[in-house]
Amino acid sequence: MKQIKWGILGCGGIAQKFAEALQHTEGATLYAAAARDGKRASAFAHQWGFEKSIQGYRALVSDPEVDIIYIATPHSYHYAHTRLCLEAGKHVLCEKPVTINAGQLDALIELARKKELFMMEAMWTRFLPGIIRVKEMISDGLIGDVVTLDADFGINFPFDAAHRIYNPFLAGGALLDIGIYPLFFALYLFGEPVVLKAHSILNESMIDLTTSIIAQSKSGTICNLQSTTQANTPVKARISGTKGYIELAQWWFTPIDIALHIEGKDEQILAFPPISNGYEYEAMEAVRCLNEGKTESNIMPLSFSMMLMQQMDKIRKMTGITYPDPIESVDIPYGWNEL
Ligand SMILES: NC(=O)c1ccc[n+]([C@@H]2O[C@H](COP(=O)([O-])OP(=O)(O)OC[C@H]3O[C@@H](n4cnc5c(N)ncnc54)[C@H](OP(=O)(O)O)[C@@H]3O)[C@@H](O)[C@H]2O)c1
Repeated sequence: MKQIKWGILGCGGIAQKFAEALQHTEGATLYAAAARDGKRASAFAHQWGFEKSIQGYRALVSDPEVDIIYIATPHSYHYAHTRLCLEAGKHVLCEKPVTINAGQLDALIELARKKELFMMEAMWTRFLPGIIRVKEMISDGLIGDVVTLDADFGINFPFDAAHRIYNPFLAGGALLDIGIYPLFFALYLFGEPVVLKAHSILNESMIDLTTSIIAQSKSGTICNLQSTTQANTPVKARISGTKGYIELAQWWFTPIDIALHIEGKDEQILAFPPISNGYEYEAMEAVRCLNEGKTESNIMPLSFSMMLMQQMDKIRKMTGITYPDPIESVDIPYGWNEL
């Protein structure tokens, strides 16, 4: 296996977790960490054992040794930063949501294909063994015909106008940040919904504090999906069918224990301890794809990211979630001057 040299773009909270996981990823070399501030990059590189630190994102993409860049900046920068990497000839693993809207994603897919570069959304949940097992249990008919999915993700974030959760210029709000997980789960398990309804509580900046989604799948499953930045909710998921139900305990999107309840049988607990912190599986997939010369993952293809983004666009239209014009654009990448 060829060693893949990773670059980190933005040394914030999630980059820390990803760097920890990279240490446990076979075939991954922790090569360079880049931050807007050189000292911050240096501290991060030292903490996680990267070979070098780099000040500035433009300098990172100009480094000839970097193979792939993990983008860990706030949502509204994903488009501009992915574009920066692709134009410089670098493969990309970009944090979720991969862009703000489907139009931006479409433009990036076109660019990645033109440049023949790998691009994938870092939807880590998709790669977790427990989540994959849930889908298999459903396909195997263990709980019969699936009638409902209930999934929530709520965290009580104290108000801070500058924080990315509340700042409209950073595409704040519940849906794009945490509501994406239950929506992802519904699409992964049941495909594109035939009916989609949503309602949000917005604040004065027109970003959503709470969003509730009802999606009906082609096979007739009703999905009740909730997200909020105003309360610590149970963060559990339950899939119920005609023969039983599957329960994913707190932090369901990174399940360690899964409970299977089949009518007439004892509860069965299935354990899925991660190798590191769970982020290693998406990194392993990127390393595998690059080693096999693939420009897309067949596990998390760009067509899936597009379906997810299109559903979020529809939900935003229904609920009125609105962001300032510049961050929605494909022509004037917001923050381009801050690279
Ligand atoms: N997969 C997951 O489980 C997970 C969890 C949390 C977050 N995320 C995703 O990761 C992304 C980043 O989230 P985070 O929680 O890591 O954010 P964060 O801690 O605020 O870090 C964001 C980083 O973005 C960079 N940045 C560039 N321009 C910025 C600006 N104008 N304002 C603020 N930061 C700027 C900064 O990098 P410098 O170091 O260069 O200053 C900062 O360290 C989000 O898109 C989020 O959806 C994913």
